Amino acid sequence: MSPLLPNAGPPLPQTHQPMDPGELFRLRNSILTKHPDGKVTHESLQEIATTEDVPPSHVYAASAVDPNIVVPITNETLFVICTGACQAQGSLENLDKFVELRNSRISEGKKAFDILPRNCLDMCPHSPVAISRSALGQVAHPKLQSKDIADIVEQLCADS
Ligand code: FES
Repeated sequence: MSPLLPNAGPPLPQTHQPMDPGELFRLRNSILTKHPDGKVTHESLQEIATTEDVPPSHVYAASAVDPNIVVPITNETLFVICTGACQAQGSLENLDKFVELRNSRISEGKKAFDILPRNCLDMCPHSPVAISRSALGQVAHPKLQSKDIADIVEQLCADS
């Protein structure tokens, strides 16, 4: 099935519980209360997650529902992660893994990467989906599993 044919396949079985839409908008409001201009940092999104006692992925997903919230892109390597309907197949678990790896790389002084949540990457039959952009080019990661993310990050963030 071509990734260019969204929704062309049968419905995917739900393996993970998606967030309640009301919770998404509650956290969106928390972000905008702290950052009325919508300009956030990875650190501030994670601080809000700690304050709200929710996983970081929930706050990242909330940031994606409002186009006025801008997550910074400052590193060469970027992972765009679908936090829309891909939640039902584990995209939030994946996003939390990216956050964990980003934080550990920064604390170890290694090359970091950015995380950008988006509501759909137009590859829904291959959920959960991420797209990377790095020195190696742009790559789709269909049916991405949390256990594979550390290897992907290691390869795409390798110091050249
Ligand atoms: S919902 Fe379309 S790619 Fe995730």
